[in-house]
Amino acid sequence: MCSVNLLQPDPMGSVSLLQLDPMGDDRGSLIALETSKNVPFNIKRVYYIYDTRTDIARGFHAHQHLQQLVICLKGACRFITDDGSEKQEHWLDSPEQGLFLSGLLWREMHDFSADCVLLILTDQLYDPNDYVRDYEQFLSMAKQRNA
Ligand code: TYD
Repeated sequence: MCSVNLLQPDPMGSVSLLQLDPMGDDRGSLIALETSKNVPFNIKRVYYIYDTRTDIARGFHAHQHLQQLVICLKGACRFITDDGSEKQEHWLDSPEQGLFLSGLLWREMHDFSADCVLLILTDQLYDPNDYVRDYEQFLSMAKQRNA
């Protein structure tokens, strides 16, 4: 497994799709997630989202300083990110891809399949104060950081 540099949260907010190489053999597939091997931050918290109703969307908040790696272990969902000037949309449907989110980014999750399981690794413990839940407030924070 090759190595990745450890990164600091991007103050402006950035998104990239990381390829996660499986160690497969004729028994099946296995992916290991390790800090500085394929995860560019120190992993402090892991949570997963599952049994999500297919008629609802989640998220609708930004984090100010967090780094996250989002992996769709099963099923699919549409993941929207917004850095205040550009929106990106990623259809997550493979456990071999991780969406790396860093810094100030608005995020929304839509169109969950009934079997969707999203695994999220983060570099911080849960901190409600890191959340920005008001979109207008997020836009003004993004504007300030880009000034
Ligand atoms: P929330 O952030 O609202 O979920 P989403 O933004 O994905 O729709 O989280 C739902 C609840 O879970 C909320 O009461 C906060 C709590 N929670 C924790 O206690 N720890 C965590 O690490 C996370 C992500 C959420």
